[in-house]
Amino acid sequence: MVKLGILISGGGSNLQAIIDAIESKQLNASIELVVSSKAETYGLERAKRVGIPVMALSRDDYMDPLATDERIAGALQDAQVDYVVMAGYMRKVRNPLLAAFPNKIINIHPALLPSFPGAHGIKDAFDYGVKLTGVTVHFANEEYDEGAIIAQEVVEVAEEDTLESLEEKIHNVEHTLYPRVLELIAQGRVIMKDNGRVAVI
Ligand code: GRF
Repeated sequence: MVKLGILISGGGSNLQAIIDAIESKQLNASIELVVSSKAETYGLERAKRVGIPVMALSRDDYMDPLATDERIAGALQDAQVDYVVMAGYMRKVRNPLLAAFPNKIINIHPALLPSFPGAHGIKDAFDYGVKLTGVTVHFANEEYDEGAIIAQEVVEVAEEDTLESLEEKIHNVEHTLYPRVLELIAQGRVIMKDNGRVAVI
């Protein structure tokens, strides 16, 4: 069983998918702490209603991002988490967190990296007119949406798709892919190789 800490900034639908996968025993893990970069998010409510401890931060805390990442790292260590899961966390993870959890911080991005990084991956891919986009799960580093790729799943953009329908497709894939990848991690099947790439065995 792996112990997870989850970082969020918003609605927390990926957090919910992870909670549900644990409950239905598809994912052998526990969530020890949810950290939100914003004080009032629906994601925090999702955590609280199932009794998960939360740490709610605010914009002011990020005036000193290093000190805040040190606090977050301390709280995650106190909670004895094995992995840190970014689920819609809209802040960079900086050295205090990366050093405390080397190769143990994971992010999900709603496009096929390295294409369309940034905060608007779905819209940017849609506006570009790509025929295939998708979802990427990767290890986090100091840059947004970089770091070794663990898994990707393709989503086709159909002729009749609107931005809204594409968003729905992408989110549906996120909600199954993220728990699946976390289960692979829980099983020890995700290996960081010496060349910086990830093997899934
Ligand atoms: C997801 O699309 C995720 O890929 C991106 O932010 C969104 C978060 O959604 N990084 P939610 O808060 O999990 O509903």
